[in-house]
Amino acid sequence: MPIPTHVGIIMDGNGRWANKRGLPRTAGHKKGTETLKKVLKTARETGIKVVTLYAFSSENWSRPKEEVETLMNLFRDYLKNDVNELLKEGVRISFIGERERFDDDLIEKMNQIESQTKDLNGFHVVLALSYGARGDILKAVQQLAQKVKSGMLDPNEIDMGQFSSHLSTAQIPDPDLIIRTSGEQRISNFLLWEMAYSEFYFTPVLWPDFDEKEFKKALADFELRHRRFGNIS
Ligand code: FPP
Repeated sequence: MPIPTHVGIIMDGNGRWANKRGLPRTAGHKKGTETLKKVLKTARETGIKVVTLYAFSSENWSRPKEEVETLMNLFRDYLKNDVNELLKEGVRISFIGERERFDDDLIEKMNQIESQTKDLNGFHVVLALSYGARGDILKAVQQLAQKVKSGMLDPNEIDMGQFSSHLSTAQIPDPDLIIRTSGEQRISNFLLWEMAYSEFYFTPVLWPDFDEKEFKKALADFELRHRRFGNIS
């Protein structure tokens, strides 16, 4: 049975989950953190090698101050406490996104976790925090332009591999499967370059309700896909 090597997840619907229950949106994010932990456990047990979680987009900074603050505290708590379980199990953890926009203690924690686990080659969790694919692509373009300007690079040498190596996902294989919960069917600036040949799975289930059974449904659906990568079968 074909198992995706890399699964990207757009964890959507925390706010609606809370609203439906008359709870503050932050309660949805808290429950969403529990879902995240369970999904990572299932992914690892299933044999998936990489999971990228879209936890906070570059655009999410414009949400109300209290919501941003709650999310920051959830990330803080996750990185300082919950993550220890993954560390004990030898999981590699890395971060993509504009790290410099976070508070110093969070930046320090991200750097520390990343360097502590960088040589591990088992299960790999990538947290997309303050991430936006267009911004990531622009940064790569700027780096390449600098190299051309300084005479280090001939523009004709810029091929897809060269370009990919300047993205924050350079060390990560392209996602095979992208899951988005909550019924929205859009990409929202997630891994635009990397998902050129990804399969998509959209489910109406809200992220806090996305349990092991729902995840396995997504994997079973992936199993039925015929991937041709532009070729014929
Ligand atoms: C989208 O739902 C979700 C987010 C913007 C935050 C995702 C965060 C978590 C799942 C929890 C914490 C993550 C870590 C890494 C500890 P939404 O708020 O846009 O929901 P809505 O569309 O229903 O309003």
